[in-house]
Amino acid sequence: MPTFRTLDDLGDVTGKVALVRVDFNLPMQDGAVTDDTRVRAAVPTILELADKGAKVLLLAHFGRPKGERVSTQSLSMVVNPVSAVLGREVMFVPEIAGDVVKQSIGILGNGGIAILENSRFWKGEEKNDPELAKAVAANADFYVNDAFSAAHRAHMTTEGLAHLLPAYAGRSMQAELEALEKALGNPVRPVAAVVGGAKVSSKLDVLTHLVTQVDHLIIGGGMANTFLAANDVDVGKSLCEHDLADTVRGILAAADSSGCTVHLPYDVVVSKEFAANPPSLRTCNVHEVAADEMILDVGPQATEALADVLKTCRTLVWNGPLGAFETEPFDTATVALARTAAALTKEGSLVSVAGGGDTVAALNHAGVAGDFSYVSTAGGAFLEWMEGKELPGVAALQI
Ligand code: 3PG
Repeated sequence: MPTFRTLDDLGDVTGKVALVRVDFNLPMQDGAVTDDTRVRAAVPTILELADKGAKVLLLAHFGRPKGERVSTQSLSMVVNPVSAVLGREVMFVPEIAGDVVKQSIGILGNGGIAILENSRFWKGEEKNDPELAKAVAANADFYVNDAFSAAHRAHMTTEGLAHLLPAYAGRSMQAELEALEKALGNPVRPVAAVVGGAKVSSKLDVLTHLVTQVDHLIIGGGMANTFLAANDVDVGKSLCEHDLADTVRGILAAADSSGCTVHLPYDVVVSKEFAANPPSLRTCNVHEVAADEMILDVGPQATEALADVLKTCRTLVWNGPLGAFETEPFDTATVALARTAAALTKEGSLVSVAGGGDTVAALNHAGVAGDFSYVSTAGGAFLEWMEGKELPGVAALQI
């Protein structure tokens, strides 16, 4: 595993200024945070540094203001919710560099916490401008990156700063990197991957990479239809990217030569309309889908067979639901397989790592997110990691 410094490598930080990159790109509605998972993920790092007497300056982006000050995207909006989660007072600083930041540091006592303004208000953030990085770094003694979910961006606060200051992985970043290493970096075999979701086109690089890494690739969701169609199965009016048939056949050939078994459903749940518990709902063999039906979930026999596959595996990485899980009963296969994975994890026979927005929602819906070995809340960064790409924010921490 590539090595990086963690908070364990810090000496005495009393009175030192820490620039801590967090991901406070929080879902908000009418000015209120609707999900504070990312804040809670950053708590251990923030409190550890504050309790050791550092002055903690939190750096983050919010939205995509493209280098302009946009009042509705000011990080001043997250000060109260962050303060409530931390149980500490939090100061807001409307700049990221210069005298205003310097003066704020002067006011902040040891162990004090401040949130700097949205880094994307400055054009140099996304350009990873070295001059802006120098100006930001000038006010600090060291840099901590605790934002894995933003680590696929080579921006000033995620990448540039790591080269100018002593750089450390925060606790959340550390946990994420350790879990990902266990899942794909250096996993115990056999390894299974579940890849679901609507479109093959959005996960082409993931699929191409995974067939060379895992022993079993379980395909679900709309993308399974594209695989079935490429195998000359008539999928009726199911969501399907027919133009990707050759690409999919290429992925299947690559899987074959790497010794990866690709699992596609052989029975499916179909309906003529996409609605909750529709009257036309039925289960059938994949070869019996009528022209006016669409596949909306993996069938019960295939789900059981997939559970048997997981029982033979020691490691699982999961991204994307198996069916249209937001609408009942098309959540059935996802819930069943997630529960099997959770039970195997609890027994100690499986290391299970899941990630991506939809996946987290599906595991929460199945009531098992807490039973997986690790659930990543990162979206784009988790996918890029599944594609085998080096994440700039992670690479910059390596020593
Ligand atoms: C996220 O919300 O996934 C990260 O914070 C990255 O945000 P971005 O896609 O705007 O770079």
